[in-house]
Amino acid sequence: MAHLFYNFLFIWHLLLMPCFSLRLPNNAVELSRIKHRSKRYDDSISFLAVGDWGRNGNFNQSIVATQMGYVGKKLGIDFVVSTGDNFYDDGLKGEDDRAFKTSFSNIYTAKSLRKPWFSVLGNHDYQGNVEAQLSPALKKRDKRWNCKRNFILEAGSADIFFVDTTPFVQKYFDNPKKQVFDWRNVLPRDRYMSSTLKNMNVSLEHSKAPWKIVVGHHTIRSIGYHGDTQEMIDHFLPILEAHKVDMYINGHDHCLQHLSNERGSMQFLTSGGGSKAWKNKIHYGLHNDSSMHFYHDGQGFLSVEIARDKAKLEFYDVSGRTIHRFKLEK
Ligand SMILES: *[C@@H]1O[C@H](CO)[C@@H](O)[C@H](O)[C@H]1NC(C)=O
Ligand SMILES: *[C@@H]1O[C@H](CO)[C@@H](O)[C@H](O)[C@H]1NC(C)=O
Ligand SMILES: *[C@@H]1O[C@H](CO)[C@@H](O)[C@H](O)[C@H]1NC(C)=O
Repeated sequence: MAHLFYNFLFIWHLLLMPCFSLRLPNNAVELSRIKHRSKRYDDSISFLAVGDWGRNGNFNQSIVATQMGYVGKKLGIDFVVSTGDNFYDDGLKGEDDRAFKTSFSNIYTAKSLRKPWFSVLGNHDYQGNVEAQLSPALKKRDKRWNCKRNFILEAGSADIFFVDTTPFVQKYFDNPKKQVFDWRNVLPRDRYMSSTLKNMNVSLEHSKAPWKIVVGHHTIRSIGYHGDTQEMIDHFLPILEAHKVDMYINGHDHCLQHLSNERGSMQFLTSGGGSKAWKNKIHYGLHNDSSMHFYHDGQGFLSVEIARDKAKLEFYDVSGRTIHRFKLEK
């Protein structure tokens, strides 16, 4: 009897929950969620972050991948985060594009990297067939692949918010030059931006995890080739500050860097060293103060280890050498 009763409750729960959880003020909806349970008793997790990588193994992509494999094994990582520009130069052409194999499946082959990959899109991904890169069909080709526009990964002690930043950048609309962007399911842009921001805002507000991390392709703060992204400062930074986000992790600039917010305690982490790097152009002077902690003009990646009350972050260069590390505490 009790068994039946619980079944009954369960079914009601299924029927009613969507109605309650989706009705939020200002037409905002919570972002879709993926749960990743910590395999450790204390809810700690660890992951690697890499960006700007898919070049058929060229430009040291394969060497970075090998080093990621070693570090991934040492830390026993839970998953990998990709900060976008997953496939150069023009994203994927379709669900059966060979680049998916030659730039992803055949490159990140270490056992420790056979974990879920959670990816955002970058501007180069938008120059291909975006719907193909978001398609569940890719998971059949390589079950690690998880790429959506905007979603939350609930992972042990952290809620990680993945955001699609390319539609926010004005110049891709005003002055696309020879580039053709796949804006299907984005236009009208204003509506896309306002709903993305509202959904982020409400999802961050409801987050109860000790650590809040946001991942997007474009920089907020950077002294690299591209520098700061004004649209990210105008639209995202106020929301991230209001909700006391701990870290923003991005790619776009093909380098590694660590800055912190002048206001509050947010850390800005660039991990865009997955392949072609060495731009040799630095915007010194943009953040030439105590908020600038580390800059490496070259390939590499980032590891993040997070427990409830502390976090440890480490940057590695192309040869797997630690070149910057720091700790955060709650
Ligand atoms: C690959 O990495 C080495 C350092 O190990 C560096 O000297 C070389 O310039 C890099 N090659 C490219 C194409 O970036
Ligand atoms: C975020 O939500 C709060 C509370 O609902 C609201 O006061 C604030 O204006 C929102 N901010 C944005 C940028 O939507
Ligand atoms: C910023 O720092 C770099 C490296 O320390 C230095 O070379 C440069 O002159 C500084 N620029 C300004 C504007 O202070």
